[in-house]
Amino acid sequence: MRRQIEEHNWRYYVQDDPVITDSEYDRLLRELESLETSYPEYRTADSPTQRIGGAVRSGFGSVRHKMPLYSLANAFNTQELLDFDRRVRNITGLEQVEYVVELKIDGVAVSLTYEQGRFTQGATRGDGVSGEDISDNLRTIRSLPLRLQTQHELPSVVEVRGEVFMPKEAFANLNAEREEAGEAVFANPRNAAAGSLRQLEAKVTARRALDIFIYGIGAIDRLTILSHWEWLQQLQRWGFKINTHNKLMMGIESVVDYCLSWQRQRQELPYAIDGLVVKVNDLRSQHRLGSTAKSPRWAVAYKFPAEQAKTRLKEIVVTVGRTGVLTPTALFDPPVRLAGTLVGKAVLHNEDIIRARDIRVGDLVRVEKAGDIIPEVVATIPEHRSGQERVFVMPTLCPACGAEVVKLPEEVAWRCPNVSCPARLRESLIHFGSRGAMDIDGLGPATIDQLLENRLVKNVADLYGLTQTALVQLPRLGDKSAANLIAAIDASRNRDLDRLLFALGIRYVGATAARALAKHFGSIKALMKANSDDLLSISGIGAKITASIQDFFGEERNLSTIKRLEEAGVNMVKASPPPTTSQRLAGKTFVLTGALAAFTRAQAQAAIEKRGGKVTDSISRRTSFVVAGNNPGSK
Ligand code: IVH
Repeated sequence: MRRQIEEHNWRYYVQDDPVITDSEYDRLLRELESLETSYPEYRTADSPTQRIGGAVRSGFGSVRHKMPLYSLANAFNTQELLDFDRRVRNITGLEQVEYVVELKIDGVAVSLTYEQGRFTQGATRGDGVSGEDISDNLRTIRSLPLRLQTQHELPSVVEVRGEVFMPKEAFANLNAEREEAGEAVFANPRNAAAGSLRQLEAKVTARRALDIFIYGIGAIDRLTILSHWEWLQQLQRWGFKINTHNKLMMGIESVVDYCLSWQRQRQELPYAIDGLVVKVNDLRSQHRLGSTAKSPRWAVAYKFPAEQAKTRLKEIVVTVGRTGVLTPTALFDPPVRLAGTLVGKAVLHNEDIIRARDIRVGDLVRVEKAGDIIPEVVATIPEHRSGQERVFVMPTLCPACGAEVVKLPEEVAWRCPNVSCPARLRESLIHFGSRGAMDIDGLGPATIDQLLENRLVKNVADLYGLTQTALVQLPRLGDKSAANLIAAIDASRNRDLDRLLFALGIRYVGATAARALAKHFGSIKALMKANSDDLLSISGIGAKITASIQDFFGEERNLSTIKRLEEAGVNMVKASPPPTTSQRLAGKTFVLTGALAAFTRAQAQAAIEKRGGKVTDSISRRTSFVVAGNNPGSK
């Protein structure tokens, strides 16, 4: 059963091509869990049930790598790639060299040891000679095989190397959650991956959506392989996740072209890369080339130039989020073009960051995109100061309601404590109607501002009392938009329980936790009755979320909102799985891009999944259909 589950796991997370539904997978895993509870003597470290993380550790042990983990020499431009190639040709005597070119994943290097085909230990790179034992945390990464596919030739011990990374979307979501929670945000996906791997509680790592690409072999006790490319194939057969953009090419010219083409396209990848790695393919040539003290002579890292821009920081404005967190944001004049978009502002997160980087209003600043996505002020250019620049001070009163702001001892953020603060209400309404929550089309910030100005809503439950007559009074809302909004609000009454739980904006309850809660309790009533043991027993729900849920339901105002939502006919239970609709899209994989005419992308995805199909973010060999709407990206 363990093997069967691992196989499904591999199909889902490595092959991107599952053959059973998520609920069938869950059923298998639950059955295994219950068997292991009854017969604990059969529970092993490589059981798929062990991926969720167990006890809290006090620190990490140290691991000596069987072979040192080298770092790479860098090439910063085409000329340096050509120089590298010339050195390789000089030493090997070859006229033209065969190279493997791989994306340089911007994550954390790890080494994994498998004994008799089982994952036994994983470590960080450390100083290259020894690193930290982070086996428990690595085990939570679903694309990391706990057991190798042994029908293929298997040495008794093998150590492989790879890069753990956090996909861009997961990074953005994690930071958004942390921002709301008043916690420090991660500067880029690499830091987020590193921070997640260094958690003493593997349960926390398990929630972090990490992934891993394997790119090479360390120590191995037998097996004769002649080229790096063959190694990659072998690793793939054992069940490791290998990057699909790896390429075998003859001569440095095509290598240069490939590097430059990724320099232009890197934004389109769902994960961050900071360059490419060029490796001599033939292992005998690699051996002849050897290494310097720090790095092998048979490989080089082509590093992309950092995309940076200079502009003037014109103003720092402070906004108030849904949970009251005050966020300073820098406004630029002029806006600058960076990694494909025009950037007019950057979140400065909190006072500490502004002080640490000595960022002043009026400064000339350098702007970069962290992990290609989130604009950030990385430094000021103090030489250009005129003396007119102003040091920023955090307001002591909420800019929206005037309440005195507070700071909890363990947090970096200041908060507006007023639960009825209009800025907090505005953000709660935006969140309530957003796509992942109640998905109310037409309830954007502009409409919400009008509703608030005209005092039509004071609470999310008031949305369900809005009438066409009231809406048409609003100066900037026509008959048709009013009717559409009423219809969209009406439709939101039928959203599933998980969306409602997410929409309520309970602190720390993101979309994933909301799904886990809905699945476990089935109704909001049952959730409200739950005690902390019930909550803590759910995978993915820890002490912090538990406390926050109990606080939320302990507040009279929240109970009254829920009661009013229920009276308004909003669904409060989990939908039973629909009677099997035709599964005519089973086995087909779709990529959606651009604006679709009759659906939002989330709706199209739901419709495809309901019929057994799968939706992925990027095009691969397994893509069956690309659905391209208006203004599609380059997909
Ligand atoms: S090969 C001796 N391949 O980049 C060969 N490294 O300094 C050593 N990295 O920290 C590395 N993607 O973790 C290799 N496809 C790839 C890589 C890669 C990312 C990281 C690696 C190391 C750094 C190189």
